[in-house]
Amino acid sequence: MTKKKYKNWNVVNDDNNISWLHLDIPKSSTNVLNEQVIIELDTIVNELSDNVPAGVVILSDKASGFIAGADINEFTTFESEDAALVNIQRAHAIFNNIENLNCPTVAVIHGFCLGGGMELALACDYRIAEEDSSSLGLPEIKLGIHPGFGGTVRSIERMGSFAALDFMLTGRNLKAHQAKKSGLITYAVPKRHLLTAATQTILNPPRIKSRPWWEKIINFRFVRPLVAKMLIKKVTIKAKRAHYPAPYAIIDLWLKHLDNRKIMLQEEAKSIAHLLVGKTAQNLIRVFKLTEQLKGLAKDKSVSIEHIHVIGGGVMGGDIAIWCALQGFNVTMQDQRHETLAGVIKRAVKLYKRILKQKRLINAALDRLIPDINGNGLAKADVVIEAIFEDAEVKCNLYKEIEPKLKRTAIIATNTSSIPLEKLTGSLKKADRLVGLHFFNPVSRMPLVEIVVGEKTSNKAQQVATTLTKKIKKLPLPVTSTPGFLVNRILMPYLTEAVTLFEEGVPITVIDKVAVNFGMPMGPIELADTVGLDICLHVAENLAESMPITVSEHLKQLVSRKVLGKKTGQGFYEFKKGKLVKPKEKNNYIAPADVEDRLILRLINETMACLREQVAESKDLIDAGIIFGTGFAPFYGGPLQYVKECGQEQVLMRLENLEKAHGSRFKPDDGWKTIIVE
Ligand code: NAI
Repeated sequence: MTKKKYKNWNVVNDDNNISWLHLDIPKSSTNVLNEQVIIELDTIVNELSDNVPAGVVILSDKASGFIAGADINEFTTFESEDAALVNIQRAHAIFNNIENLNCPTVAVIHGFCLGGGMELALACDYRIAEEDSSSLGLPEIKLGIHPGFGGTVRSIERMGSFAALDFMLTGRNLKAHQAKKSGLITYAVPKRHLLTAATQTILNPPRIKSRPWWEKIINFRFVRPLVAKMLIKKVTIKAKRAHYPAPYAIIDLWLKHLDNRKIMLQEEAKSIAHLLVGKTAQNLIRVFKLTEQLKGLAKDKSVSIEHIHVIGGGVMGGDIAIWCALQGFNVTMQDQRHETLAGVIKRAVKLYKRILKQKRLINAALDRLIPDINGNGLAKADVVIEAIFEDAEVKCNLYKEIEPKLKRTAIIATNTSSIPLEKLTGSLKKADRLVGLHFFNPVSRMPLVEIVVGEKTSNKAQQVATTLTKKIKKLPLPVTSTPGFLVNRILMPYLTEAVTLFEEGVPITVIDKVAVNFGMPMGPIELADTVGLDICLHVAENLAESMPITVSEHLKQLVSRKVLGKKTGQGFYEFKKGKLVKPKEKNNYIAPADVEDRLILRLINETMACLREQVAESKDLIDAGIIFGTGFAPFYGGPLQYVKECGQEQVLMRLENLEKAHGSRFKPDDGWKTIIVE
């Protein structure tokens, strides 16, 4: 046995003359394919080409998994498309050399095997994955790019066109048994058999199966344009070409170059180099880093949370309790009504069935969710989440009643959507235990939770709330306890402007289309109907005290007539079985030219006010909060990034024009003059 040590790789030659390439990046819990790792791999592969062993195994020494992908930090360092291309072509050459080694090659996979790591595994003849822990994917699309180290070509060869295109276009991860079924990996085996399986595969290499003939029909030159058209139609529903070019580039590579492997590889490299330096990718990479920044806010390692008690089993409290139990916490759930608690369990069964699928896991999650009408769980709770009616007096009475029953260290986290914490602390003996934990509706889908920090909130309470948020796989954003906090505050002017446009006669479909064309996931009118018009009205009335928004009479009337949106089947739109019924569009209607600016700049002006008032700590955190709290077009990288890219002066001028045309609600915030958005 011989060993050779590199900075990131350990190469061990065993008695069977098999070379084991162990990747183990020093001082890091995760392996990534950074420049240094790739350069060393080049040297190793060149040596193996000169002195061919019986076989080569590539594996990771990290407990976290194989390789989590290319190093995202390096994605933002290329000065030009050409510089990016040179880098990518080098990786291509190395991966081709691995593929051309004159001996069997095996990737041994456990845990995460993503992006560039997946592509390295695909360059090997065989992939053997640990059956329980492995999670395999080509998620590049989420960063506005596509696989760029030969992955577009090799995934299609291994999985067939349909499965591989779906794999790349959705960017979703596969578990080992799914990956085996699709052809992405050769074997899925228990952990204890991984290394033996690799040795045996090299000593007795099995035949590499090609895809069945019938799967290849869609690869024919004359069939591909039809399939591409269908795929483009599907992609367009989710992502417009102008906003997200990467999925179209994948389809294009497949359509034009599938017949010529060498050219397809070369074109893949050119295409990704082009995308990588583009605005969409750079902004989506920024958004990815922002998620990491938010997760990193949970810093206090000493926080320990075992039991959560939720009070109020309505729309929000019920869903929060269900979600926390799903994520592994023991949760007691209190409401004043038995029927409400029964309803929560019913909702839990539905969600758990959809997500967990296996009976054993569903039952375990249900066991963790305990209805508790008498509030017995209060005494052992580390965190009490309060989600009762939005009424300061009712909330204060509740706090007075429960505080004596709590552990000394327990915190109270209120889900209030509009009441400043200072109005609630008076009823508490230990006021510093109160923090806001503002979830968004629907809880299971919305990634953000605002951590509302009041004047008296202790650091500990803030850290417990932040840690809990991270542990339940949500993104925590600390905000000050000011009206509307961050997300509702910037949303409300946007939503009220949409209603004003409607009242001026602009059709709702036009208003929504303008917003969607800008890049919002859903138009403001549909959003208001989805959230519930009663809730919108409630928040608007609350915020109208401190902001220049007028509460629409039409909205008030709808709410008084119990026309509340999706939940009642009728709002601005009609909903049938929960699905929006699109009204007929007027044929020759021409919308005013400033609809987009009226909607978006009201949101952006309020964002500037939040930056000036430091509602969240930094420009980055504000952008992150607005993207994850409202879905604001992520490819712009957030509203403040949008200001930066359009030019602050330019945006200010547009806002001033709106003020002249439509009045003081468009008055630029003072921040435009005192802050430079960088
Ligand atoms: P809801 O009306 O659906 O539920 C409130 C629940 O609290 C009811 O089941 C009621 O029986 C229970 N309750 C009231 N007083 C109680 C008490 N003293 N002890 C035990 N249970 C009691 O209200 P929803 O919509 O769930 O809102 C709850 C809180 O969440 C409010 O503060 C609201 O502002 C906030 N919120 C609501 C959002 C939404 O979209 N509905 C979004 C974000 C926050």
